[in-house]
Amino acid sequence: MDAGITISLRGAILRPWSEDDICGLARVANDPTIAATMRDGFPSPYTTDDARRFIELATGSAPGLLLAIEVDGNVAGGIGIHPLTDVYRKTAEIGYWLAMPHRGRGIATAAVGALVPLAFAQFDIHRIQAGVFSNNPASMRVLEKNGFNREAVHQKAVVKNGIVMDEVLYVQIKKGELWDQTGTTRLP
Ligand SMILES: CC(C)(COP(=O)(O)OP(=O)(O)OC[C@H]1O[C@@H](n2cnc3c(N)ncnc32)[C@H](O)[C@@H]1OP(=O)(O)O)[C@@H](O)C(=O)NCCC(=O)NCCS
Repeated sequence: MDAGITISLRGAILRPWSEDDICGLARVANDPTIAATMRDGFPSPYTTDDARRFIELATGSAPGLLLAIEVDGNVAGGIGIHPLTDVYRKTAEIGYWLAMPHRGRGIATAAVGALVPLAFAQFDIHRIQAGVFSNNPASMRVLEKNGFNREAVHQKAVVKNGIVMDEVLYVQIKKGELWDQTGTTRLP
């Protein structure tokens, strides 16, 4: 996928991360209410060193696509899609976050809506999924508004900040592919 991609949304743009974002990222990401609904790979507290490591990854050879969400010229969040490995290599995972002051304006919904078709077009994948903690109805709504289906509830699958909770798996299957009645298809 073209790592130099920039996508204009209403109220935000999606664009590649840059070294110039290190301080801005550390500033907006250092919010425990963001980390609370993310995997532990999203640090809390979020230091400048964490931001530097992330931006090295995002601007390096990491498979997939990691983009900054920019609002009014400043980093406001992030979104990424990366293909999984092994037998899951036809599946990609999507993740995203947005700083509190910018929420509730449809920015995450628009970002997901822009990236999903691009990922289907440019990665060799059949499905995109997101595991959402059961304490995160806003994220479930973002996915539902983008046509994701609530496929499964993984009971007590997650422990975050000392609380065990369910993980809800949301899935979107690439449209236009032919599957037989057992849900299988032979790859060329
Ligand atoms: C999830 C997140 C990215 C949503 O960002 P956002 O830009 O505010 O999302 P949108 O404005 O596009 O849509 C949010 C939707 O959730 C709804 N919502 C918000 N809080 C809600 C709640 N407590 N219960 C139910 N719905 C809720 C909003 O009303 C809106 O739906 P609507 O358009 O039908 O009214 C943001 O809350 C966030 O960054 N959270 C922390 C990180 C995170 O959880 N990332 C996802 C991990 S799976």
